Amino acid sequence: MSETATPIISTRNIGKHFGGVKALEGIDFDLAEGELRCLIGPNGAGKSTFFRCLTKQYKPSTGEIFFRGRNVSRLKTHEIARLGIGIKTQVPNVFDGLTVYENLHLAANARMYGAAADEACDAAIERMALQRIVDERLDRLSHGQRQWVELAMIITSRPVLILLDEPTAGMTGEEVAKTAELIHEINRDTSLIVVEHDMNFVRAIARKVTVFHQGRIFAEESAEEIMHDPKIGEIYLGKRKKVQ
Ligand SMILES: Nc1ncnc2c1ncn2[C@@H]1O[C@H](COP(=O)(O)OP(=O)(O)OP(=O)(O)O)[C@@H](O)[C@H]1O
Ligand SMILES: [Mg+2]
Repeated sequence: MSETATPIISTRNIGKHFGGVKALEGIDFDLAEGELRCLIGPNGAGKSTFFRCLTKQYKPSTGEIFFRGRNVSRLKTHEIARLGIGIKTQVPNVFDGLTVYENLHLAANARMYGAAADEACDAAIERMALQRIVDERLDRLSHGQRQWVELAMIITSRPVLILLDEPTAGMTGEEVAKTAELIHEINRDTSLIVVEHDMNFVRAIARKVTVFHQGRIFAEESAEEIMHDPKIGEIYLGKRKKVQ
């Protein structure tokens, strides 16, 4: 996918304060059209808060958000979703008692009905390689499979930008490798921002990495530079993410 000059999403001076806690401060962020960016940073750095500000689940305390050059700072959550921005949060968002196909249909029906919904589900099943488990109930699936179903649910609405908050948390090495492949597949026609802690995974999927620390952008470098940057190692010292 080619990258054009106007970023798909930009923020200027985004801040989010909870009482006296400055969870985010002065975030200037640009994502190129078609880009796949990873966000890293220690626990509490503000990564999930940044995602919630982008989707307007949180109202930013300061700053502005631009989508393809348009100021969308005043839009509400459902209007942001309608722009084509999908999010997978750290909390699972699936129905355990329903099958994979039923879950996908529910997701698709938020936007479309009938043949269009069927077609969107079929396309998502194929792209996320879920053919063998479409009739399984969610509570019978492995942790990794459930995550992939959630990815498929997001792509049924054909978003143009997807935010993924720790998509590989709790996965086995094999599941992490498959998730990297699926993310590459999604990135063929969709921009992505992925919060991740596993640096091998980050290196496998992203060229550019943004490092959050104490609510600010601490660095923006290639995955290779990050791996060898002693400053980055220091901010993780003593507060390394729970091992996954
Ligand atoms: N709803 C809230 N009310 C009060 N404080 C909050 C709220 N949400 C986040 N915070 C605070 O904002 C800061 C950033 O939290 P956030 O969840 O964004 O971090 P994170 O980088 O996603 O961390 P993790 O890697 O653990 O998921 C933390 O100090 C957190 O306690
Ligand atoms: Mg988080």
